[in-house]
Amino acid sequence: MTQNPSELELAAANPLPTADELAHSWEHTPSLNPATPEAREEVFNSLGFGSVFTDHMAHAIYEEGKGWHSKVIEPYGPLTLDPAAAVLHYGQEVFEGLKAYRHDDGSVWTFRPGYNAARLNASSRRLAIPELTPEDFLASIVGLVRADEVWVPSAPGSSLYLRPFIIATEAFLGVRAAHKYDYLCIASPSGPYFTGGFEGISVWVSPDYHRAGPGGMGAAKTGGNYASSLVPKVMAKDEGFDEVCFLDAATNTNIDELGGMNLFIVYEDGTLATPSLTGNILEGGTRGAILRLLRDRNRTVTEKTINSAQLVADIESGKVSEVFACGTAAVVTPVARIAGEGFDVSLAGGEVTKSIYDQVTAIQLGHEPDPYNWTYKITP
Ligand SMILES: Cc1ncc(COP(=O)(O)O)c(C=O)c1O
Repeated sequence: MTQNPSELELAAANPLPTADELAHSWEHTPSLNPATPEAREEVFNSLGFGSVFTDHMAHAIYEEGKGWHSKVIEPYGPLTLDPAAAVLHYGQEVFEGLKAYRHDDGSVWTFRPGYNAARLNASSRRLAIPELTPEDFLASIVGLVRADEVWVPSAPGSSLYLRPFIIATEAFLGVRAAHKYDYLCIASPSGPYFTGGFEGISVWVSPDYHRAGPGGMGAAKTGGNYASSLVPKVMAKDEGFDEVCFLDAATNTNIDELGGMNLFIVYEDGTLATPSLTGNILEGGTRGAILRLLRDRNRTVTEKTINSAQLVADIESGKVSEVFACGTAAVVTPVARIAGEGFDVSLAGGEVTKSIYDQVTAIQLGHEPDPYNWTYKITP
């Protein structure tokens, strides 16, 4: 049962420079070949996720003895990588995911960028990658989004998805931490997660594959964890499920998280629970925001071990009334069905899930005041 803010939450609470203060700290080499307004319009008319990219990207290089340098917003394009680049062989990389939203008045904002900066560094520490200052992280985002502001869609539920990442680019086949890295941030306009109603997802509990184990990299946002989630994800899809849910590797009995989202359980007595941060799961910025909102609503919410058999029994008995998943992509999505070996239970979804979704999205979109300082204005 944890009530104290996590290390990431404490780091995320540090004050950040304003976008105007950061706007010119990275060089800008404008694209000579930006998309035409017509081409952009065509993209906006059928927004999906993650397959179309904007005109620019942020890019910096790290070399031992020099630190991070050559910080620039430059035209989007392929990288030249030596085939011996360490990332291609040993997977030394970390990444983040956040969104820029257009508010009703046309201004562009992002949500908890200080949290993503802190988590990128926490992931980097786990993978022996040099850290980037939160100021540089934010300057790359401000510079990129300002350069590609026309790419931020305004249709309801749409956003500009931002993908900062660091890869080990030293050409060396020895197994050790590389001496050279590239940081990049790319951006992709994305459509709404919910295209129909606020539909619940179905979740398949993987009986024998885990995404991470004790002492592993589960708390880091690094490609390897996602690579290990793909086979069970394919299996879940083959069985007709939307997502895979992972159990803890040590006991194979407790709920960890979904492949890309954290989980919350709502009990019929009004209390809630979410799996505690064991080191196996990725600590979501959305999870942290929801914990704060719930506690400020005087809801009892515990971070604890959630046994999967107990959860199934509690859903069957009606003790659990709602389960929801949360993360940057969907913000909050109801879980309508949970199945695995020997069980298959359904949930109706409900009011608590919807009210949390409404409150987080209202803050993100500036429809509600933000007493937490989570929203960050990017445009002037
Ligand atoms: C494995 C995993 N868990 C949880 C999350 C939710 O994190 P956040 O709320 O910061 O998007 C994500 C998404 O980034 C994820 O990939």
